[in-house]
Amino acid sequence: MTNLTQQFLADTGAEVPIVCGPMYPGSNPELVAAASDAGAFGVVQPVALTSLYGHDFREGLQLIKKLTNKPFGVNFTIFGGANKKYHEQMKEWMQISIEEGVKFFLTSLGKPHEIVKIAKQHGIKVYHDVPNKKVALAMRDAGVDGLNCINWRGGGQTGIQSAEQFMEELHDIGIPLICAGGIGNAEDLQKALAMGYAGVQMGTRFLATLECKVSEAYKKAIVDAVEADIVWTNKIAGNNSSMIKTPDIMKGGLRTGPIISYMLKKKSLKKYARMYLMSQGLKKYNKAAFDDSVQWWQAGKGVGNIKSVESVGDVVKSFQSVLSK
Ligand SMILES: Cc1cc2nc3c(=O)[nH]c(=O)nc-3n(C[C@H](O)[C@H](O)[C@H](O)COP(=O)(O)O)c2cc1C
Repeated sequence: MTNLTQQFLADTGAEVPIVCGPMYPGSNPELVAAASDAGAFGVVQPVALTSLYGHDFREGLQLIKKLTNKPFGVNFTIFGGANKKYHEQMKEWMQISIEEGVKFFLTSLGKPHEIVKIAKQHGIKVYHDVPNKKVALAMRDAGVDGLNCINWRGGGQTGIQSAEQFMEELHDIGIPLICAGGIGNAEDLQKALAMGYAGVQMGTRFLATLECKVSEAYKKAIVDAVEADIVWTNKIAGNNSSMIKTPDIMKGGLRTGPIISYMLKKKSLKKYARMYLMSQGLKKYNKAAFDDSVQWWQAGKGVGNIKSVESVGDVVKSFQSVLSK
């Protein structure tokens, strides 16, 4: 085990260098707890916890603490362009997380400087999602403890470059790098560690587990899919989301129509186009989470290596087998 993997495990308190990434939909509290309990590291997606799974934020964190005594993290999406209400809500969730003893924040988008400052006062580690070298260097300089390298094989809003390119460009950055995207089985984990990553973040693999509350049809689609079944669409967030090719997602094509495409290209209008797309996309995801007949299914290119729906404990155990080699 490398020093950076050891550092990552110390930063999270996990036993296995695997993060169960924040997911909307997917991160129900039972899944987050099961991942941590199995020795990996569950991360809460606050909007999913509250709006989708119906928990009061503090009560949701307390539920996870009842289900496991192992540590878990919380994800904060900073969204520079979001309104005041959103920022107030995020501050409140952060305060509650601190009070409930959370020791790891995963931040996405925007500038995490203020969060890093608050986190350091409370002994909390901060890792930040990064799309490329430029952002990675800026985040390292902002004082984050590690970087989640979102690559183009991942599910959800996908990255813009390969896991290999991240490693070529950042191997000497001096803080743990996590490979987020395309990890489907133990061999994929082994390859990521051999490349120099301190650990991996997985989403798709954890969707196909007994503890995850997405529809059975969604889980089956992940198990049945091969890499070629994954398509990119900008219809949900303005940038590429990685989805399983279904009649629902192919309807009307994978790209936005001319008006939204125009707005996405204009700096002054982009924010409104993205807000519109995401509000529509969320409605579809809300349905797809629980209703077998709505096939808006986010998944990454690691699907080809996911062969069955299993318990989280069995998934983590199967990954552990390569760590002792
Ligand atoms: C269904 C789904 C929803 C996701 N939602 C979010 C989210 O709300 N916030 C976030 O930071 N990442 C989100 N992600 C990304 C995951 O946290 C993780 O980085 C990604 O799934 C890793 O790639 P993989 O799916 O190939 O394992 C989502 C991924 C999936 C598959």
